[in-house]
Amino acid sequence: MSLHTPLCDLLNIKYPIIQAGMGWDKEGLTTPPALVAAVSNAGGLGCIGGSSIRPEVIRERIRAVRQLTDKPFGVDITLPKMEDVRIPDPDEVHKEIQEKFPKHAKFNEEKVPILIIGLGDTAEVVPLAHERGIKVMALAGAVKHALSHARKGADVIIAQGYEAGGHTGTIGNFPLIPQIVDAVRPKPVVAAGGISDGRGVAAALALGAVGVWCGTTFLVTREGGINPIYKKQILNGSSEDFVRTAYTSGHFARHYRSDVIKAWMSSGLEAMPTPYQGNAMDEVRRAAETANRVDLLHVPGGQVAGMLSEERNNVPAREIVERMVSEAAQILNDMRSRYVGS
Ligand SMILES: Cc1cc2nc3c(=O)[nH]c(=O)nc-3n(C[C@H](O)[C@H](O)[C@H](O)COP(=O)(O)O)c2cc1C
Repeated sequence: MSLHTPLCDLLNIKYPIIQAGMGWDKEGLTTPPALVAAVSNAGGLGCIGGSSIRPEVIRERIRAVRQLTDKPFGVDITLPKMEDVRIPDPDEVHKEIQEKFPKHAKFNEEKVPILIIGLGDTAEVVPLAHERGIKVMALAGAVKHALSHARKGADVIIAQGYEAGGHTGTIGNFPLIPQIVDAVRPKPVVAAGGISDGRGVAAALALGAVGVWCGTTFLVTREGGINPIYKKQILNGSSEDFVRTAYTSGHFARHYRSDVIKAWMSSGLEAMPTPYQGNAMDEVRRAAETANRVDLLHVPGGQVAGMLSEERNNVPAREIVERMVSEAAQILNDMRSRYVGS
């Protein structure tokens, strides 16, 4: 069975299933080219997590993905906080980018079809992207952020609920998705957070989304490149083991409740603001890596980890995409015949 929504036409993909851009490690192993390409080759959209790697590494990754697929894929980056950005004159900004960030200005020499803004203000980026024929998707955890991205011209809004892995807001997906769908209509909305199978896909479509953006689920696939110890944290962890704190960077994010996070939580101390907390955690990270104790560290991940057990370990990403599609299609069909009367 198939599943086709307007998102498929907009992004030129077969199925409305997106592998979320995930940064975090400095080598870009969270979303290795093999994973990105496997999802795109399966008919979904794979995305390179570009937030923690340098521009030249992003470029290498783009080329590596191109070697493995001729299908569309995305690049996810993060930008400065909205409050830090003045209202820009687009021409002036364009000039400044050419001068200050020549590598970024040349970014689309690589002709990336889709750019995803994980955090921050889309104002400067949307016109530059559109000029180059790039579609822009932007994440929002609250209606006001979704409206802001929509006004600035983002093509797709990704509504990301409290249950999601990585940086998250405070609103759960059931109230968040319909509110964002209503607020930005007719812009398409993609649901993010807590989705790992066809039930989640069907629910997201019922709430008005036209696709899903899944992170944690793809970390444990065969092509996922994270350390096996982090994989175990996800596969053995329960939903309660993935907590939202500001202890990793000063910004609220959901991640595994490792012994180091537990110690911070029981210290009674509030997290320091960015960049101090991240700096302190980087020191801990380096020490743990040197001592070969990465188990003390924490993988970012969502409450959906509670649904991922050993059965999901190393399943090919293609199979995950295909299972999600066929299950969702089956559910949508069944619900119609079982529950809908005339
Ligand atoms: C390991 C990890 C790293 C992440 N890094 C980023 C990132 O760099 N940029 C971003 O926009 N979102 C990031 N996220 C959030 C994901 O893009 C996505 O929104 C989230 O994983 C969805 O929730 P789920 O994990 O329940 O599927 C990250 C999530 C995880 C699990």
